Amino acid sequence: HSLRLQDSRRTITHVDKVRKMVLKSTVVQTTPFEGQKPGTSGLRKKVKVFMEKNYTENFIQSILNTLGAKTKGATLVVGGDGRYFSTQAVKIIIRIAAANEVKKLIIGQLGNISTPAVSALIRTLHTSGGIILTASHNPGGIRHDFGIKFNIESGAPAPDSFTDQIYEHSKKIKEYKIVPDLDCDVSVLGLQKFEVDGRSFEVEVIDSSENYVKLMKEIFDFPKLKGLIRGTGDRKPFNILIDSMNAVTGVYVRKIFVEDLEASPDTNVRRIIPLDNFGEIHPDPNLTYAKELVDKLKENPTYDLGAAFDGDGDRNMILGKNAFFVTPSDSLAVIANNLECIPYFKKHGVKGFARSMPTAAAVDRVAKALNKELFEVPTGWKYFCNLMDAGRLSVCGEESFGTGSDHIREKDGIWAVLAWLSIIEHKKKSVEEIMKEHWAKYGRNYFTRYDYEECDGEKSKAMMDDLEKRINSGELVGKSFDGANKTYKVKLADNFSYTDPIDHSKATKQGLRILFEDGSRLVFRLSGTGSSGATIRVYVESYEEKDTDKDAQEQLKPLVTIALNISKLQTYTGRDAPTVIT
Ligand code: G6P
Ligand code: ZN
Repeated sequence: HSLRLQDSRRTITHVDKVRKMVLKSTVVQTTPFEGQKPGTSGLRKKVKVFMEKNYTENFIQSILNTLGAKTKGATLVVGGDGRYFSTQAVKIIIRIAAANEVKKLIIGQLGNISTPAVSALIRTLHTSGGIILTASHNPGGIRHDFGIKFNIESGAPAPDSFTDQIYEHSKKIKEYKIVPDLDCDVSVLGLQKFEVDGRSFEVEVIDSSENYVKLMKEIFDFPKLKGLIRGTGDRKPFNILIDSMNAVTGVYVRKIFVEDLEASPDTNVRRIIPLDNFGEIHPDPNLTYAKELVDKLKENPTYDLGAAFDGDGDRNMILGKNAFFVTPSDSLAVIANNLECIPYFKKHGVKGFARSMPTAAAVDRVAKALNKELFEVPTGWKYFCNLMDAGRLSVCGEESFGTGSDHIREKDGIWAVLAWLSIIEHKKKSVEEIMKEHWAKYGRNYFTRYDYEECDGEKSKAMMDDLEKRINSGELVGKSFDGANKTYKVKLADNFSYTDPIDHSKATKQGLRILFEDGSRLVFRLSGTGSSGATIRVYVESYEEKDTDKDAQEQLKPLVTIALNISKLQTYTGRDAPTVIT
């Protein structure tokens, strides 16, 4: 059973400790582990893999080796979603960082900080980066997943060039440095000083949410949002249901929604006590894994908006009354189209927009109408970050339930909900009305994604290779495929590659695309965030200018059938149904 890592209501005493204890580092001989290659978003494996002797130590040392000369004297943020093994990992990080001459670690109380809040802290405190302990939306607990990723000094996930080096170091590691006797209590707020090898080493345990909440208050108009939720004048209260899925956002949701916006702790929020196994659920905000929230909204039509987040708080799902589903690609487009009601954008202006390649192109139409630049990047938030640093990108998102802006360098679940609430407050319309008004103006990019989880790795790869071969031979272009009452003719097919407009780095093989003449698209990718086996993702999109009120699954059925036929997915994997449809 799960144990709580943090009771967010606990009152905290601030203690400053100076340990006069003289500590010494030692060098431990080790040998490399296979497969310490960071994926879309850091290294993710089963907990028991991270528990193997030296496994976590090797990886942390490899991160510091990659930081190289910058390690000495560095200040780093450490925090994560509080999943099982976080406490042990924090301990290892403290001991290895101290031995490697890191000057200071800033650690969230009990090791908990959401991913967006880590990114914010790195930026606010100008640290050299941060280590995030999370496997994001993957299940947690001793039988499930753990993960470690590094974010650089801009607050962004480390780019490929950096993670490639971590991997290289991990393959040839021979030793790591550690201070085995360093014990540090991360449950109490305050500064603790140690003397290690004659140098001073500091650990500051901070409140997990303070800096982040302050940032949200600068971005959004909290008094207005409070008015929306409490009701003002002739407007009745806007009834929300925010679901933290037993994960780290609970701490932030209590502060922001309950304490500041005065939502009811009993009826407006749920599952806000973070658990180290997320209460045995899959903390992923989509229609499958956040079904409890969907059901609550269907049962109780007085709810005007529902929202859920993933384990580490960077993903979000937005639902309207009766669980009206806003697909993430549409959510991005609506937010991009309505930035004038958010103080942050009034102050900083609106630069360009961006989406990941598999994300439906709804935001492209907004960019065109507002005369803004639009970027299409590979899957992975890191690809947005150079554009933000260069001042060319304000708001971006991914079909995988990620939305965010240049206020930080990660996607941000709570930010997305506050953005939607700001729009609702401003327009005085419901989620569904706002969505339908958007489609009436821009047309609708119908979108669905089929996931086939835990497929056989070899067979999945064979399927992708086979399809890629046919794409490369050129045989698909010009070919027609019959749908229900439409024929789809292939206009272009390729394996997506991307050249970063800022540093010109190139990312190749980012997903197989088949584009049809009417603008419909099929995309095939292998997930880069799984911890075992392979997950095949099939993305299907089709644009309708007028016919915008259909059920997405019905509308896309013919194209889904074409996708399964072209890819021979059933033949290769033996699967006749996806595990998740979003
Ligand atoms: C994480 C990343 C996202 C990415 C998503 C899906 O959430 O931060 O940028 O879109 O995973 O990645 P995958 O490789 O599993 O499709
Ligand atoms: Zn996440």
